[in-house]
Amino acid sequence: MDYQASANRYNEMLYRRCGKSGIKLSALSLGLWHNFGFVNDYGNSRNIIKTAFDAGITHFDLANNYGPPPGSAEENFGKILHDDFKNYRDEMIISSKAGYTMWDGPYGDWGSKKYLVSSLDQSLKRMKLDYVDIFYHHRPDPSTPLEETMRTLDLMVRQGKTLYVGISNYKAVEAKKAIDILNQLGTPCLIHQPKYSMFERWVENGLLDVLGNEGVGCISFSPLAQGLLTDKYLHGIPQDSRVATSGIFLKESNITPIVIEKISKLNEFAKQRNQKLVHMALAWLLKDERITSVLIGASKPEQIIDSIKCLENIKFSDEELKTINNILQ
Ligand SMILES: NC(=O)c1ccc[n+]([C@@H]2O[C@H](COP(=O)([O-])OP(=O)(O)OC[C@H]3O[C@@H](n4cnc5c(N)ncnc54)[C@H](OP(=O)(O)O)[C@@H]3O)[C@@H](O)[C@H]2O)c1
Repeated sequence: MDYQASANRYNEMLYRRCGKSGIKLSALSLGLWHNFGFVNDYGNSRNIIKTAFDAGITHFDLANNYGPPPGSAEENFGKILHDDFKNYRDEMIISSKAGYTMWDGPYGDWGSKKYLVSSLDQSLKRMKLDYVDIFYHHRPDPSTPLEETMRTLDLMVRQGKTLYVGISNYKAVEAKKAIDILNQLGTPCLIHQPKYSMFERWVENGLLDVLGNEGVGCISFSPLAQGLLTDKYLHGIPQDSRVATSGIFLKESNITPIVIEKISKLNEFAKQRNQKLVHMALAWLLKDERITSVLIGASKPEQIIDSIKCLENIKFSDEELKTINNILQ
């Protein structure tokens, strides 16, 4: 039977303006880095997307290399869009990126015009789309002039292949330069996508100020530190966890006694706030209005339903923030 999205899908979600643009994003967005490749169960991937959309998540984040194998997350997502979401394209913000290794040779990586133009064309074909809503340069390229990369993003908007552009993994100084160039070209930078969680706080040393001052949105990736900021690793490594099933980017060796001690203390403190750790970790990011959205991943539909409960309390007293800082030191 055809998928019918829930009639209540916009009732509970919070939507935040992305910088000073006209676009609002759902406070939680869904990323397809893990759990959407050809190696994964297609039915489960499909259910995760439907569950997210039914819960008011409008923004779905991809990249050329998501899988495995690279490209397969975009291909699967394209199939899901085609099978289930034909009537909902205008309610969705779909992003893709290029910047990491995608194919052999000198034109399949980094930030040249040659690579980015070919990569976006490939992504559109895989997803069977005419355009994406946001296209990102995935990481800064020390060899290609920043002007070339930013001019390419501007070109893509003018060609109608993406509506907006963003940058990811750029440090504060290089982000400011990229934002300035894009402003001069007349294609403002919509959004920056950095890694940001309780365990990864580099953005607090300058980047968030740049984005706030420039009116650029911020979407924090791996807000749960790939699942560490939940209670799942407190008593060993569950068989269905990312460490057990993938183990490439989050490894058993990352779960040190010091990490476990911090998670355990955070878990106890979350209980005092009547929250689960997963909710407190997401709320802790959303307490800052400069964070447009937290970009979560999910291996099961139930995790989406659970994570969204973070919106029930995204306020922290100064005292609570101090306690959390002490635990994280
Ligand atoms: N721009 C970049 O360079 C870059 C890099 C990395 C990621 N990203 C983006 O960020 C997105 C999210 O990254 P991420 O997957 O690392 O995010 P994350 O939200 O930190 O981790 C997601 C994982 O945490 C676990 N989880 C999620 N909700 C849970 C819940 N309610 N209870 C218990 N466990 C839960 C699941 O892992 P289990 O398998 O253990 O269940 C899930 O796959 C990616 O998909 C991608 O779009 C961007």
